[in-house]
Amino acid sequence: MSAGRQVQEPSWPGTPPASSPGRLSDSGTGLEPNPVHRSDPPPPFPPATQPPSPRAAPASSVARVKWLAAPSSEAWLQQAIAHADLVLIDHAHCERKAAGVALQLMFRYPSDGGLGAVLSPLAREELEHFELVLQLLQRRCVALRPLAAPPYGAGLTRLVRRQEPERMLDSFLVAGLIEARSHERMALLAAHSHELEIQQLYGELLASEARHFGLYWLLAEERFSRPVLVERLQQLSVLEAELLATLWSEPRFHS
Ligand SMILES: [Fe+2]
Ligand SMILES: [Fe+2]
Repeated sequence: MSAGRQVQEPSWPGTPPASSPGRLSDSGTGLEPNPVHRSDPPPPFPPATQPPSPRAAPASSVARVKWLAAPSSEAWLQQAIAHADLVLIDHAHCERKAAGVALQLMFRYPSDGGLGAVLSPLAREELEHFELVLQLLQRRCVALRPLAAPPYGAGLTRLVRRQEPERMLDSFLVAGLIEARSHERMALLAAHSHELEIQQLYGELLASEARHFGLYWLLAEERFSRPVLVERLQQLSVLEAELLATLWSEPRFHS
């Protein structure tokens, strides 16, 4: 796919290693980013101030996603497995919205050709994912319908500063964090769903979703200094985890 440009994922030294208690660990599902050699190692973060989180999802199941300040909870995983159709409907909306975010950034910064070169294929790929989820919904005789949105998306949108160039930086990082969280949760469902077609869907999406948060990181890294980027990412990742610390009552992909 055209969004398959190899990128590096930022190190996230503020998070504990994958073997730490309550932390996601590598699962061998191919989710690790493509390693790219760097001459300038990222600066050290202070110890991460992780929000209190409920019991983490099974460590044996999940790939390490370095952008995230805290893993998804076991409670979310069990909720998502128990309400697969609802989560699939919400997932379809998430893919549609992900395409919309990429297009929105292209329209907001129309003279930035480098941005369009990355985001145009990304938007197409998200729409392909939307179609894949729609096909599965149709096979399950489940109709796509509007769902009330969980607080997650609006909460993240509020974190985007209004003035430029901070608005651009925050937009990249928030989009990347959403991709990273989606990626983590797809890995959980691919490993733990009891339904083969759910496992297959998320297993199929993982290879491409694994690149998306790296693409947003790359866009940010090309336009902002690394210290500014890293400091803001640390702030946003902690806030992102806080938004998920309390499980929303209605099952959603980002509840
Ligand atoms: Fe996607
Ligand atoms: Fe994505």
